[in-house]
Amino acid sequence: MKSSNTVWHHATVTRARREQLNGHKGVLVWFTGLSGSGKSTLAHAVEERLHQAGCHTFVLDGDNVRHGLCADLGFSDVARKENIRRIGEAAKLFVETGVIVLTAFISPFEADRERVRKLAGNDDFIEIYCRCPVEVCESRDVKGLYKRARAGEIAHFTGISSPYEPPRAPELELETSVLSLEASVDSVLALLRSRKVIG
Ligand code: PPS
Repeated sequence: MKSSNTVWHHATVTRARREQLNGHKGVLVWFTGLSGSGKSTLAHAVEERLHQAGCHTFVLDGDNVRHGLCADLGFSDVARKENIRRIGEAAKLFVETGVIVLTAFISPFEADRERVRKLAGNDDFIEIYCRCPVEVCESRDVKGLYKRARAGEIAHFTGISSPYEPPRAPELELETSVLSLEASVDSVLALLRSRKVIG
């Protein structure tokens, strides 16, 4: 429900002024892919390189956000939709601060990702698909979740008993089962340079 009787207050310290101070633009870099496809590893590795270069960054990560902002949400389609909606709103606030926001959520549904794109604005939304066959994610099974999902202990598990809709036109697609982490990081940084987010 939208709140009534509220009026938007315009800040005198604008996003443009914050970006000028930061020396780079704010942007939302949205990593999507199956559990175990490398989203978090990549987001943090990109953040490390950007931080070393003096950029202001922040990573919003699936497991972490579900401990707080989205602790009340499970993994039904409706819960995931609300998860991504909240994250989209939070990420937009970060972008307004002039920060480079990197998000690592499965975000399995195209409509939910497109909603965030619309909210952030096309110029501020960079979708990166971490493409990795489910068999490879399952063979890695870093958290042991695929094994538990196969055993029927976890319901609605993405790739096993819940769908993943791959992006149709992401800004970047990375074959994470083939590429080295360094090569993937380089590709993301090159994209940020070509989009003039960083110099
Ligand atoms: S979503 O679909 O975008 O709302 O999911 P997300 O917030 O990214 O959370 C994914 C992490 O939650 C763990 N987990 C599950 N993933 C998928 N399906 C089910 N049912 C599930 N239950 C728990 C899992 O650790 C995911 O982390 P990643 O980093 O993707 O492996």
